[in-house]
Amino acid sequence: MFDRLNRRSFLQAVVAVAASTSFGCSDDDDTKKPTADAKYFPQSVCSGDPRPDSVILWVRALDPDNAGADAPVRLEVSTRAEFSDFVFRGDFTALAANDHALKVKVTKLAARTTYYYRFVLTKNGTEYTTATGRTRTAPAAGADVAVKFAFASCQDYIGRYYNAWQRLLELDEDLDFIVFLGDYVYETTGDKSFQSGNTERRVVFSEPDKALQLGSGESTYYAANALSNYRDLYKTLRTDKLIQQVHERYPFIIIWDDHEFSDDSWGSNATYLDGRAAENQIERKRNSERAFFEYIPLDNTASAEGAIDVASAPVFPNTRVYRDFDFGKHLKLAVSDYRTYRPDHLIPEDAYPGKVAVEASVLGLALPTLPAPVQALLQSETFAYTSLDLPEHATQKAVLQGAYVQQAVAAGLTQDAATVKAQTWVSGNVSLFYANQVLTAVNAAREAAGQPAIPLLSTAGTLRGLAYVHLGKGSLFNIQGSRYIVVKPIYDLFSALRYATSAGLSEDALGATQQAWLQNQLKAANTWKIVVSSVSMTSMVFDLSAKTDIPDPTLRQVFYFNADQWDGFPAKKKELLEFIAQNQVKNAMFISGDIHASFASVEGGVPALTAPAITSGSIKELAGLAVIGAGYGPGSAVYKYVVTELNESLAAGNPGMRYVNGDAHGFVVLEVKGDEALAAFHLIPSTEVTKDYSVRGAAELQAQFTRVDFRVQNGAITKL
Ligand SMILES: [Fe+2]
Repeated sequence: MFDRLNRRSFLQAVVAVAASTSFGCSDDDDTKKPTADAKYFPQSVCSGDPRPDSVILWVRALDPDNAGADAPVRLEVSTRAEFSDFVFRGDFTALAANDHALKVKVTKLAARTTYYYRFVLTKNGTEYTTATGRTRTAPAAGADVAVKFAFASCQDYIGRYYNAWQRLLELDEDLDFIVFLGDYVYETTGDKSFQSGNTERRVVFSEPDKALQLGSGESTYYAANALSNYRDLYKTLRTDKLIQQVHERYPFIIIWDDHEFSDDSWGSNATYLDGRAAENQIERKRNSERAFFEYIPLDNTASAEGAIDVASAPVFPNTRVYRDFDFGKHLKLAVSDYRTYRPDHLIPEDAYPGKVAVEASVLGLALPTLPAPVQALLQSETFAYTSLDLPEHATQKAVLQGAYVQQAVAAGLTQDAATVKAQTWVSGNVSLFYANQVLTAVNAAREAAGQPAIPLLSTAGTLRGLAYVHLGKGSLFNIQGSRYIVVKPIYDLFSALRYATSAGLSEDALGATQQAWLQNQLKAANTWKIVVSSVSMTSMVFDLSAKTDIPDPTLRQVFYFNADQWDGFPAKKKELLEFIAQNQVKNAMFISGDIHASFASVEGGVPALTAPAITSGSIKELAGLAVIGAGYGPGSAVYKYVVTELNESLAAGNPGMRYVNGDAHGFVVLEVKGDEALAAFHLIPSTEVTKDYSVRGAAELQAQFTRVDFRVQNGAITKL
């Protein structure tokens, strides 16, 4: 059918050219011009996944007077903005079953060529058209041309304005494409921990009763769950005129991160409950995938050309959205998927701080490889443990389990659920450092009640191992000490030992198939091998070890800020970087988003650039909320180092760091050439995100933006 349409469109093109040659633009022709009417195309158009001979074109088309019906449309593609010739015309249907979203793969195009496209809907004999989209195919294989693109991430819609996109439009750079690194949508509609209460820009679910209800009381909020909920996220965001215009002007290459499904997710698992209950949600995951496949202009089916059947795309666990692109001689882009195949975070959110995670027999393997002072520390009583299952510890075990149940019930578990968890977690080997702290606290209460004290557990003859408390876990059902804020040196050791004893499965972030694919991409002959990773490769380290003004000695340590990104899989990160070094891969680079901060760093010899968020709350804002939430107010030393001096602390914590800005929104423009890559960070202070600059004009917006430039060359990053 597609071939037939192609031939027909060829004939139509001949007729159109003949007509314009013979008669010019006659009035007769003008009356046949379709009228642009966004009413039938409320999300406008977009294009994506440009290749030398093909591109994906997208529209959402429906007749509001007959909204349940499929909508037939004609796609027109031309090399001219006025559509005076056609390289393609074809008839398609925007199916109600796909929420009226339609993707068409147009092939047989010329390399590095600008095309214009539009979709036309006919109603009662009148033709209505979308805005005109512009796109561009990739340069031919081997073409010796510089390639320029922008990359961006994290565009929370709620209460935040797309000033960064407006700036990109005003710059009007000659970009080949835009990479979007994930968090294209956010799954929640009003999570007060980070989303604004602005009622002008909000997402309202059409089927709210199908959404997940989270939080409680005043802080109740909803997260997408059903397919309609996920569709509503994309549908609402794409009504924004600025994101529409960016899509109309440039093709996008988009990968998901967590929020396209669920915050800090891994595979089909959500993490909202922080371990209070299992959150494996396969149907929800598949709903999120389906909406992504419908609304995002990527081809993850086996379509050769024509309409892409999104229903045929493999879904979790067989999903495949990682893919690679060639842009001539100088650029290979390997777009990776960090979320689908990854295992859980290494430290479970429900881990009992006292539970031993690495026993003496395993720790002993590592000891001889460590510096003498570290060996001495690990052999000290701080790391002593014993088994609660020994008959002589029955009393202490019962008391510790009782304390656990109390804490777990206070954290929202039922008595029964807490009791079951206590039996799993508060048994076997436990840290004496932790257990005796709990027993001491219990004894204080017993003494006040006139009850005899419980004997503390003796350290005599005990073994040494790592417990979760040593990794930074202080409480139950908490992200701190699991996904965020872990003790770096102990975590690195724990990671290496888990990695060695699980044959690498503990940190199999990409899955074996994707990893082999990525390694192949890195060996490509293109000058630059750029790995698109939703999460950052740049280590975020707070070294508080010498900060004597922090009163709590347990906080005077070296911390990783975030174990949800590559810092959480340090052994795998090291292995990837070593693969690059060992294979003498020249000009490998990582680009990322996710963390709402701008970074330029060199990690194990490999340059890594991280784009700030388009809108989502800056890392400085989020760190501020977290630090205050943990009880360290603006006057405290912890607040000073982690929030006020965030940029300086992160720069000091990572010797490869070349640039940090934790408090701006924006995007990065990157131009890759034969001998260098030039990166420009375009940044606006985070305070401006709640102001709508589309009504203030370009000059006011320009005055808010600064630009920071870097050269990447021979594995080094230089500020210009
Ligand atoms: Fe984000």
